[in-house]
Amino acid sequence: MTDNNDDRSRLLALIEASWTTQAIRAACLLDLPQHLAAGPQHVSTLAANTHSDAAALRRLFRTLSTIGVCRDDGADRLALTTTGALLCGEHPHSLRAWALQVGGPQWQRLGELAESVRSGQSWHQRHQGRGSYDALADDADNAAQFHRAMVELTRRVAADVLHAVDFKGAQRIVDVGGGSGELLAAVLAAQPAAQGVLFDQDHAIALAPPVLQRAGVAARCECVAGSFFDRVPAAGDVYLLKSVLHNWDDERCIVILRRCREAMAARARLLLIERLVPEQVGVTASDRSLARSDLNMLVGPGGREREQREFAALLEAAGMALAKVHATRGAMSVIEAR
Ligand SMILES: C[S@@+](CC[C@H](N)C(=O)[O-])C[C@H]1O[C@@H](n2cnc3c(N)ncnc32)[C@H](O)[C@@H]1O
Repeated sequence: MTDNNDDRSRLLALIEASWTTQAIRAACLLDLPQHLAAGPQHVSTLAANTHSDAAALRRLFRTLSTIGVCRDDGADRLALTTTGALLCGEHPHSLRAWALQVGGPQWQRLGELAESVRSGQSWHQRHQGRGSYDALADDADNAAQFHRAMVELTRRVAADVLHAVDFKGAQRIVDVGGGSGELLAAVLAAQPAAQGVLFDQDHAIALAPPVLQRAGVAARCECVAGSFFDRVPAAGDVYLLKSVLHNWDDERCIVILRRCREAMAARARLLLIERLVPEQVGVTASDRSLARSDLNMLVGPGGREREQREFAALLEAAGMALAKVHATRGAMSVIEAR
C-alpha cells in the first residue's frame, strides 16, 4: 500500500480551508482592524472597545496570527500586520468590503453549490425566481455592501487597465454597468480632457458622487441610471464594460452588446475587461482564483467566466468583431472590439 500522507494532508487543508474566510470576516464585523489602526492594544482594552469576550478575542487573534493577519506583540498586546492593515476600511487598498462580501452573501450561496450544479440555476433563481441584481435593487444595505466591495476590487484593476491601454484622444468615455465609478474615475483622472458617462442602476449610481469627487473628476462625469437591456448612453468614442458580461448567460450578453453597438459612434471602440479562461487550467493560484470566480458567477448572478473565443463569438453575434486583446499586469485582460 502506498503512503498517502501527503495527499491526506493536502486534502485536509483544502477541506478545512474555509475557516480563514470566517475568521477574517469576524475580525471585520468586530471592527478589530479599525480599532488597531492607530497601534497595538492590550487584549482587555480591545475586548472592551469591541464589546467582546477577552478570552474568545484572544483565541480569534491567535488564529489570525497563524495566517499572518495579526500578531501578538507579547504581554497580550495585539497588533495588525501589514496584511491585516488592508482590512481597515480607510486603507487606500482596503479589502474590508470584499472580506464581508465573500464571508457573507457569497458564503450563503456557495453553501448550496451542489444544488446549483444539479439545477444549473443560481441561488437567487432557485430561492426567489429572479436574478441577483433584481434582489439587490430591493435591498439598499446589501447593494451598498456589494458596490463597496466592487470599488475595492476595481481599484487595482483600474491601474492595470491604464497601464495596458492607451486612452489618448478619447473624448467621451461611457462606462456601462460601471458600478460606483471607480474605473471611470481613474480613466478620467488620467485623461484630463475627456468627459465621462457612468451608466448603471440607481443603487450603484447613488454611491458614485464620493468616488468621483475623491478622484477630482465629478465635474466631468455625468451619472445616468438605467438598464443596459433597454438602452445605453449614445455618442461615446470609448465604451467600457468591466466585469459585466461574466454576470450573464450568452443570450443576455448578446443583448447588452447589441445595446452598446446601437449606441456607439462609427469609430468608437468597446473595451471588455474580464478574466480569460485558458483552454486548459493548471494547478496555479491564478487559475484557482479564476475558477473560484466562475463558481461565484454560477451560484450568484447566474453568469460564467469565458474563453477568448467565446467572447469573440458573443461579439460576432452582436455585430462586432474582436480587434485585439491587451494583457494586463493582473488577472484581467482587455478585449478590444470595434
Ligand atoms: C460585477 S458589477 C461590475 C461593476 C463595475 N463595472 C466594476 O467592475 O467595478 C456589475 C454591474 O452591473 C450593474 N448592472 C446589473 N444589471 C444592470 C442593468 N440591467 N443595467 C445597468 N447596469 C446593471 C450592477 O449594478 C453592477 O454595478
